[in-house]
Amino acid sequence: MKIKGFGERFPCSIAELPDSSISQLPNYPIPQFPSPRSYISFTISQLNSGPKKRIAVVPGDGIGKEVIAQAVNVMKATGADVAFTEFDWSADRYLEDGTTIPADGFTMLSRDFDAVFVGALGDPRVPSNIHAKDILLGMRFKMDLYANVRPVKCLDDSLCPLKNVRAEEIDFIVVRENTEGPYVDVGGVFKQGTADEVAVQEDVNTRKGVERVIRYAFEYARGHGRKKVLMTDKSNVMTYAHGLWQRVFKQVAAEYTDIQPQHMYVDALCMHMVRDPRQFDVIVTNNMFGDIITDLAAALQGGLGMAASGNIHPGRTSMFEPVHGSAPPFAGKNIANPICAILTAAMMLEYLGFEAESRKINDAVLQAVRQKKTTHDIGGGLGTRESGEWIAKGVAS
Ligand code: NAD
Ligand code: IPM
Ligand code: MN
Repeated sequence: MKIKGFGERFPCSIAELPDSSISQLPNYPIPQFPSPRSYISFTISQLNSGPKKRIAVVPGDGIGKEVIAQAVNVMKATGADVAFTEFDWSADRYLEDGTTIPADGFTMLSRDFDAVFVGALGDPRVPSNIHAKDILLGMRFKMDLYANVRPVKCLDDSLCPLKNVRAEEIDFIVVRENTEGPYVDVGGVFKQGTADEVAVQEDVNTRKGVERVIRYAFEYARGHGRKKVLMTDKSNVMTYAHGLWQRVFKQVAAEYTDIQPQHMYVDALCMHMVRDPRQFDVIVTNNMFGDIITDLAAALQGGLGMAASGNIHPGRTSMFEPVHGSAPPFAGKNIANPICAILTAAMMLEYLGFEAESRKINDAVLQAVRQKKTTHDIGGGLGTRESGEWIAKGVAS
């Protein structure tokens, strides 16, 4: 690999990727997955031609309850043919009767609903975070929602925190692996509470899991007219786990000659995201890095109040939730920005085939941002409720 001057070094081209070359790959059979894109097209035409779509709503904890209420009203204002069923899975419910999610919860969601809309889970009264793990990570893992799609789009110059960068120049997508990594909870503690204590948490990466999310990113790029897919990892240190990412990325990239593959180490990526995010198009990464860089990326959009996300398995009941958490200090004060949840609702409606309704929501949000009919975090003077109502009115008009 050539050493180049700083500034030219990243992103490096596929030919310069560290680690072994593709010709050294062991001869594993390549699993055949249905193309996510064809799955998506199939699903959308099927979904919007049938009866009413059913959405399970889990407001959860803290500001989750407040922002979801507004987003549901906005969806209603679009007139989309959807029915909502609310579930009270949350810290309150857990503290009341010990339920995190009922035993058949995931089967029921997949069987009886077209999508799940979640607020946030996390409450200081449940320090183990067990309910969030069971409900949120449970949905991601047990419903196999392997692609966490987190768009990063800055809607207005007033929201852009960077000098000399215009809002429209920040427009990229993070595709985060959503079912593996350190999140799988494999590990343990030995000699706990002693000076010799040992804690181990495994980073689990499977060939199937890595390949399908990378393939999703390329299909996404192709399906959305994007030109580049950048894989970010820490393969200079995580040689086994991220070595697998390197090999699979090269292999999959070779099938998509119309898309430019790139690589960046995640530490450098964080620097570039702040210094010049204009260069990014589609980023694909593992579960943990995807979590971290999307909070950083949220700041490029105006903060966590603006960041939407979908947890997707193409063709299946998928789950949509804002990127932020329950923000306990904001909870119950009518100050949280509901736009993150409202943009998430727009993503969900689009997934369900309600493209026009989704567009209406995006347009109304844009107007709210431009006219500063928003909450304080992004420069307006409205409360959560009032901000949601303003957008709902815009959608209905
Ligand atoms: P957080 O995302 O809840 O909040 C961090 C900060 O971001 C807030 O203090 C606030 O300044 C800002 N913020 C977040 N949402 C906002 C909104 N809608 N409008 C305006 N500002 C907003 O992160 P945290 O404080 O680290 O976590 C709180 C709890 O939420 C923890 O229990 C955590 O585990 C959980 N959590 C859950 C999810 C989820 O359910 N998807 C995501 C992240 C964190
Ligand atoms: C997110 C959150 C979750 C994650 C937590 C609450 C488990 O931070 O959705 O970004 O780490 O995935
Ligand atoms: Mn997070």
